Amino acid sequence: MSRFEKLQDYLKNNQSTWLVTGVAGFIGSNLLEKLLILNQKVVGLDNFDTGYQHNIDQAIQDAKNFSGKELGGNFKFIDGDIRELKSCQQACKSVDYVLHQAALGSVPRSIEDPIKTNRANIDGFLNMLVASKDANVKRFVYAASSSTYGDHPDLPKVENKIGNPLSPYAVTKAVNELYASVFAKAYGFKSIGLRYFNIFGKRQDPNGAYAAVIPKWVSAILNNEDVYIYGDGETSRDYCYIANTVQMNLLAATTVNDQATDKIYNVALNDRTSLNTLYKMIEERLIQRKHDLKNKVPLYRDFRAGDVRHSQANIEKAKSLLDYQPSHKVSKGMDETIDWYINNL
Ligand SMILES: NC(=O)c1ccc[n+]([C@@H]2O[C@H](COP(=O)([O-])OP(=O)(O)OC[C@H]3O[C@@H](n4cnc5c(N)ncnc54)[C@H](O)[C@@H]3O)[C@@H](O)[C@H]2O)c1
Repeated sequence: MSRFEKLQDYLKNNQSTWLVTGVAGFIGSNLLEKLLILNQKVVGLDNFDTGYQHNIDQAIQDAKNFSGKELGGNFKFIDGDIRELKSCQQACKSVDYVLHQAALGSVPRSIEDPIKTNRANIDGFLNMLVASKDANVKRFVYAASSSTYGDHPDLPKVENKIGNPLSPYAVTKAVNELYASVFAKAYGFKSIGLRYFNIFGKRQDPNGAYAAVIPKWVSAILNNEDVYIYGDGETSRDYCYIANTVQMNLLAATTVNDQATDKIYNVALNDRTSLNTLYKMIEERLIQRKHDLKNKVPLYRDFRAGDVRHSQANIEKAKSLLDYQPSHKVSKGMDETIDWYINNL
């Protein structure tokens, strides 16, 4: 039995309280769903900047459908902003574990408006760190980012070798890691940072100028709109399915291995998929499920500023210190994701 399987059995019979910030977003709502299924109490904080009430409603409904139990009573929502220390303090009251996801994602958004990104991602992060430390939570786990590798040429990426950031977003995520490590030194408050690579799965937002590539393409193909690829399509990423990401958050929050805390971990698969291959994977699955769809040739545009060319993670540290065992390769994750979009878009 893997540590994650044992952990899930344990949690079902032992209730704790978890704070999920950014709970109305893609990753936050998936964490909410899993925690409810595991009979945990969840406090959610969000200001709906890029998240939606329907993500929360659906997470609660999906948890109910899965477990056959009405679980919404274990969830309390706080409509608040992490840029306000008071909201963070209120949210951290009587909480055991914090999974801090709230932030403004997207490299292009940060290039358009670095001040707004900085406020949510650095001021907001620091507020959450202070509030969590003062509330003596058992563990603060936060969403870091693969963008912190910046211009470092090595592949696959190993946690202790980072380069220079290539965007304001990458700066904010690197600063998060610096603050987290200084809080361990200055206050003995040990946290865990999860450097997410390209996460995908249900409830990832297909709308808006800053949508991630998978939901954007799925939506464009289903709506018979043009599909754009930036660059020559050979840019590659380590796409990681949401179930693996949820697993890492739960493993990190509950580890009792002291060697595993005050650390950063890659959250990925150590696998690399080019945009051209990704496009084929998506199109193929959509056509298999919706026979009226036709093959569509994507349109190529210039490379985008701030994007790194290739990204792939070494995941040995997560495997050895947190017993991470990814449950979904890209193809299996993509099957589930496309099924979900077909039923929900
Ligand atoms: N999705 C990915 O591939 C990926 C990759 C690397 C890092 N991350 C990080 O993971 C986290 C979650 O990302 P996501 O993909 O779920 O994005 P998302 O936009 O779907 O979710 C973010 C949530 O945070 C909320 N939020 C933003 N600013 C806030 C504020 N000031 N106060 C309260 N709530 C606020 C939003 O309303 C939203 O619900 C972010 O920190 C992001 O930077 C994501």
